[in-house]
Amino acid sequence: MKTEIPTSRTNALAERLSALSRERFYDVYQQFEWPERLDPDSFSMSPEITTLSDTPVWSALTDEQKWRLTITETATLFSNTLNGEKVLVAGLASQLYAKAATPEITDYLHHFLDEENKHMIMFGVFCRKYVGRVYPDKRLAMPAKYAPGEELLRFYTLAMVVEAYGDYFNMRVMNDDRCNPLVRAISRVHHVDEARHIAFDKAYLAELAAEHMPGWDDATRANFQTWLAGFMKANWLTFYNPAAYHDAGIENPYEVQKIAMAAPGQKALREKVTASVANFFLQTGLVAELPEV
Ligand SMILES: [Fe+2]
Ligand SMILES: [Fe+2]
Repeated sequence: MKTEIPTSRTNALAERLSALSRERFYDVYQQFEWPERLDPDSFSMSPEITTLSDTPVWSALTDEQKWRLTITETATLFSNTLNGEKVLVAGLASQLYAKAATPEITDYLHHFLDEENKHMIMFGVFCRKYVGRVYPDKRLAMPAKYAPGEELLRFYTLAMVVEAYGDYFNMRVMNDDRCNPLVRAISRVHHVDEARHIAFDKAYLAELAAEHMPGWDDATRANFQTWLAGFMKANWLTFYNPAAYHDAGIENPYEVQKIAMAAPGQKALREKVTASVANFFLQTGLVAELPEV
C-alpha cells in the first residue's frame, strides 16, 4: 500500500531555502573575532543550562570552576555538534545528484553541506583555541541493512535530533547578555542556519515517512521506533561529559556525571528541550510514544 504524498512540498521548500542561503551567504573566516583569552567576567553558557545546574554538585563549585565549566560545556556542545556534522556532511555528499534527490533537493543539499562545513570550522576553532581539543565522538554505528527508505529516515531523524537539541542551547546563549560576545555570535550564526536545516528535515522526513513506512512490516517499524527513541535518550548522555568536568577542575568526573544525569532538574530540562522534536516524531509515526529522556 502506498500513501499519497505531497512530493512538491519539499521541492518548493528546498527552492526557498536555497534562495535564503544564497542571500545570507557568509565567509566563516571573516565572521568572528577570536580573543586570545575568553573574558573572565562573562560566561560561555548560561549557567542554568549547564549539566550541573540544579544538581547537588553546583553549590560546591568555586566561581572559577563555574566559569570554566561554561567554557568546557560549550566545547562539549560544539564538539558533539561537530562530530554529528562530520557524519551529516558525508551523508549529504553521497545524496547529491542521487536518484532519490530531485534537482531542487540537490541544489539545497549543496547549501546544507556548505553550511555544516562552516559550522565545523567555527566549532573546531573554538574548541582547539579555548579547550585545547575537540572532544571525541561517542555515538553508535548504523546497521548495514535497511528497509526501503530506512537509511534516509535514520539519517535525517538523527540529524534533526542533534540539530534540535543544540538549537535550544544556541538560542539560550545568543539571547543571554551574561555570555561573552564570541559565543553569542557563534550561537546566532548557527541558529540562523539551523532554522533552515530543521525546516528541511521536517518537510523531507514527513514526505519520506508517508512514502515508505506504510510498506514496512510491523517488526521493521517497531525496530525503527525503538532505535529512534533510544537515540534520543543516548544523545543526551553526550552532554554529560566527564572530560569537560575534568577540564573545569572538577574532581571525580564519572561520579559527577551520574549525579547530574539523575538530578530531577536536569531531567526536566531534557524533557523541555526534547518536547518539540519528540512531538513531531510522534505525529509522523517515527516514534510510537513520547520517548523517555
Ligand atoms: Fe550545524
Ligand atoms: Fe544543521
